[in-house]
Amino acid sequence: MPQTKIAGLGYYVPDNVITNNDLLKYMDTSDEWIIERTGIKERRYANRTGETTTTMGVKAATIAIERAGITAQDVDFIIFATLSPDYYFPGCGVLLQRAMHMKEIGALDVRNQCSGFVYALSIADQFIKTGMYKNILVVGSEKHSFGLDFSTRGRNISVIFGDGAGAVVLQPTSEAGQGILSTHLHSDGQSAELLAMFNPGTHGNHWHEEAVADFDEAEIGQMFMSHNMIDNAQNFPTMDGPSVFKKAVVKFPEVIKEALSANGLQSTDINLLIPHQANLRIAQFVQHQLKLSDEQVFNNIEKYGNTTAASIPIALCEAWEQGKIKKGDLVCLAAFGSGFTWGSALIRW
Ligand code: COA
Repeated sequence: MPQTKIAGLGYYVPDNVITNNDLLKYMDTSDEWIIERTGIKERRYANRTGETTTTMGVKAATIAIERAGITAQDVDFIIFATLSPDYYFPGCGVLLQRAMHMKEIGALDVRNQCSGFVYALSIADQFIKTGMYKNILVVGSEKHSFGLDFSTRGRNISVIFGDGAGAVVLQPTSEAGQGILSTHLHSDGQSAELLAMFNPGTHGNHWHEEAVADFDEAEIGQMFMSHNMIDNAQNFPTMDGPSVFKKAVVKFPEVIKEALSANGLQSTDINLLIPHQANLRIAQFVQHQLKLSDEQVFNNIEKYGNTTAASIPIALCEAWEQGKIKKGDLVCLAAFGSGFTWGSALIRW
C-alpha cells in the first residue's frame, strides 16, 4: 500500500494588514491586552475587491499545484476545509473546481473549523493509500473579516481571527517510511455551543415550540436569518474563551502523544510541531507540556492571527519556505477547535 506524501504546498494572505491599534476604531481594546492574551500583533483582512474564501484558496492552490509539478487538470479530487464559505451552499470545493477549470472531479467540503485541515488531510490520506486518487488538492481557507462582531461586545472573538489560505497537493509515494505516518481524529459534541455561530441554521432559536404546530406565517421565510437575529447580533460567532482554552491545553498534548505513541516515537523525535494557531499562550503551554524546545515549534500567529482551517497549511508552508522543514524531518500537525474537534498528523518529510 502506498504512503501519502505532500508533493507541493502554497499559501496566500491578503496584503491588507490590520494591526491591533487599527481595531481601536471599532471597539474598546488595546494592543497590550491582545498581545498579552493571544500573542497576536496583526492579522490580514481580505481585500474589498471581490476577494473571497474561494479566491484566496485558488491563489494558495495555484502555488501548491505548480510546486507539485502538475497542472490543475491533473488534480483528481478536491477537499476544501472552511467555516466561512462564499455561499451557505454549495460549498467552496465546486467554486474552486470551476475557477481553476478542473475536470469534473469530486469536490468535498469539510466543516471542522480549526481542525478542518487535519480532518481533510486524513481523508485525503485514506484515498491515496487505497489507490483511489493520485493527486488530491487539500485547501484550508477563511475569510473571517466578513462576519465578526466588531463592536466591543464581540471583542473577545474579533481580535483573534484573520483571513488567509493554505493548500497542499498529496500524492502516493513508495519510498519506505516517508509521508503521512498516521492521523488521529476526535470530537466531543458536549461542548458544541461553547464556540459556535448559530445562524443561519435550522435550530430555530427564534422558533417557539408552540409555533411549530401553529406557526406564524410571517416567520416562515425567516427560518435561517431573521431581522430579529440581526438586531440581537445572533449572526456572529460566540465563544466562551476560558472554557475553550482549558479544553485545548488538555487535548493538544493528548492527541500529539497519541500520534507519537502510535508510531513508537517520542516528543524528542519531533523536528517541527505545527500547532493550529489558536492562541500563542495555548501553543506555549503545549510546548511546555511536551518539553519541546523553541526550535521544535513553529508559530506565526503574531502576523496572521487565527485563520482557522487555513492556519496549519499557512504555517506549514511558511516553515517549509524558511527552510525549517528538510527531507527526513518528523513534522507533527495538531489542531483543536469548535465542536469540539481535534486531531493530529505525523509526517516524515
Ligand atoms: N480587549 C480588551 N478586553 C477584553 C477583550 C479585548 N479584545 N476581550 C475580552 N476582554 C475582557 C473581558 O470583557 C473581561 O473583562 P471583565 O473582567 O471586565 O469582565 C476580561 O477581558 C477577561 O475576559 P476573559 O474572557 O476571561 O479573558 P481571557 O483571559 O480568558 O482571554 C481569550 C480571552 C479569548 C483571549 C482567551 O480566553 C482565549 O484565548 N481562549 C481560547 C480562545 C481560542 O483559542 N479560540 C480559538 C480556538 S480554535
